[in-house]
Amino acid sequence: MSCAALLFLLLLQSSFCFANRKLLVFLIDGFRYDYMDDLQNLPGFREIVDNGVKVDYLTPDFPRRHCEVHQMTGNYMWDEGSNKEFLIGTNLDSRLPLWWNGSEPLWVTLQKLGKRVYMYYWPGCEVTILGVRPTFCEEYVYNPTEKNLTDAMENALNALKSNKADMAAIYYEKIDVEGHHFGPHSPEIDRAVHSLDQAFQTLNLKIKEKKMREEINVVMFSDHGMTQIKWMEKVIELDKCIEMSNIIKIMDRGPVVSLWPKLDKFEEVYQNLSKVENIKVYKKHDIPDRYYYKDGRFVSTLTLVADPGWFITEVSEKMDDVVEFSEDSETKVSGK
Ligand SMILES: *[C@@H]1O[C@H](CO)[C@@H](O)[C@H](O)[C@H]1NC(C)=O
Ligand SMILES: *[C@@H]1O[C@H](CO)[C@@H](O)[C@H](O)[C@H]1NC(C)=O
Ligand SMILES: *[C@@H]1O[C@H](CO)[C@@H](O)[C@H](O)[C@H]1NC(C)=O
Repeated sequence: MSCAALLFLLLLQSSFCFANRKLLVFLIDGFRYDYMDDLQNLPGFREIVDNGVKVDYLTPDFPRRHCEVHQMTGNYMWDEGSNKEFLIGTNLDSRLPLWWNGSEPLWVTLQKLGKRVYMYYWPGCEVTILGVRPTFCEEYVYNPTEKNLTDAMENALNALKSNKADMAAIYYEKIDVEGHHFGPHSPEIDRAVHSLDQAFQTLNLKIKEKKMREEINVVMFSDHGMTQIKWMEKVIELDKCIEMSNIIKIMDRGPVVSLWPKLDKFEEVYQNLSKVENIKVYKKHDIPDRYYYKDGRFVSTLTLVADPGWFITEVSEKMDDVVEFSEDSETKVSGK
């Protein structure tokens, strides 16, 4: 998951009756804009679309967009001042409010208004943000199972039905995991999308069984898409272009990489990287304004952005265990 680029949004009811309805939110990681094109064969999704709205497109917001607003520069961050690292889902320091309190998440706003929010597997729900936590947080674990998902749906509906919760939010990672391993055009993605559809068929049924059709709105969104890359051919290995001992800190790999070179080598590193094909190198203050990025709290002194389909990494040896497909620069979005 990274800074949000909403891919689609569905509301269960076409009448926009927000005032009294409770809200059930799904964040489906890495769900590419076209995974649900074949609605005829996805009855779970289809029923939701038929009862609501689906956005036709949105404006691409890559790379790492609007971090000046929320300060979440990426999944991997470094705070130079405190020398602390944010390594999503893996280190204790990633739970420090420092990373999370750059803006106010929706659940914090609701809790402040005296509403109760139940959250399932949602990264960050365990963090105290601006002094607030959700009423309930089933902590994030890597790649929750389909059973975890359907259990979460059942529990969320029950919490909403019994007035224990005003909003419930569920994060689901499997689509992203399969996309990274097998690519967006794979049978594995097809299977994962169809089993997610099964889960939504069950959800639709339960909403009816529990007589909640007039009681809730359902919103679904995704944070990014996925593009196929030619592994091994389109990889930029930084240690072939620069002396890594001149780098104080490097964060992330893939389409966007953050670099903090030693001060006295800064220009030389910049010059060397400027000559590398298929990447763009930005000094912090040269990052285009339109990304709303450069004044972010955790933005590095150099930011590398790969051309679409290219992947930036520090050294090739480390690549055996990594994903085969990059998190996407492909933010192209079309209609249904
Ligand atoms: C966010 O957390 C940091 C570190 O704890 C603190 O310095 C900062 O004042 C906090 N910001 C807000 C808006 O509370
Ligand atoms: C999620 O699923 C795993 C594997 O089936 C199970 O061990 C775990 O208890 C489940 N988590 C929750 C919170 O139900
Ligand atoms: C820049 O490239 C030159 C030529 O390849 C190399 O000798 C030098 O070490 C590089 N500089 C840095 C700071 O990596």
